[in-house]
Amino acid sequence: MSRENRISIAPSILASDLSRLGEEIVAVEKAGADIIHFDIMDGHFVPNISIGFPIIESVRKVTSLPFDAHLMISEPDRFLEDFKRVGCNWLSVHIETCPHINRTLNRIKELGMKAGLAINPGSALSSLDGAMSDADFVVVMSVNPGFGGQKFLPAAYDRIREVRKKIGTSKTRIQIDGGIKKHNIGAAEAAGADIMVVGTGLFSSTNYSEMMASLRNSTSEASR
Ligand code: DX5
Ligand code: ZN
Repeated sequence: MSRENRISIAPSILASDLSRLGEEIVAVEKAGADIIHFDIMDGHFVPNISIGFPIIESVRKVTSLPFDAHLMISEPDRFLEDFKRVGCNWLSVHIETCPHINRTLNRIKELGMKAGLAINPGSALSSLDGAMSDADFVVVMSVNPGFGGQKFLPAAYDRIREVRKKIGTSKTRIQIDGGIKKHNIGAAEAAGADIMVVGTGLFSSTNYSEMMASLRNSTSEASR
């Protein structure tokens, strides 16, 4: 990672008040969010169902921040064009769901989106080796996907370090997703992550601007 790069904070709207989703997105944008993270679940790859196309499309008009859809779905190839159509800018797919991962990542890029390669905590990192160079970012999961508000799995730090080694000098970024809060965001950065997904760690606060500032102050940006 280029250390001059700013840390990006990506609120996961799964933890927001979904009855007021548009307002919640505007509020986190005002608080300084960089990216809006949407968790897409199909009840098959993960044991939960979340949101889909009409919701993403309806809130596309409230902000110009990039939309990042994290596809926790089987057979994601069937839906790549639809995510582009509803306004997604970044799209991550799980290595566990993609038998032809290079084709999938390249199709996402052809559609004009940034391509993310996500991996579950229990999957061998060596499974990324043949695909890493096609990804714009790698998503290291620090919980088993399916639910917000789960406990952070500390093995993620070593996994980030390992992925950072594999990336070498290329510009591929590392997103960490699951259980990130102000007390561990600094350690995630130190391990090599530069895109921080934060769900309950932000939305459970009553003051998003203060919490966002406190998250940023817990990273190296505080000393720049
Ligand atoms: C887990 C999701 C995460 C999650 C993050 O399946 O991919 O994005 O919603 O939420 P917190 O920060 O609450 O773990
Ligand atoms: Zn996610």
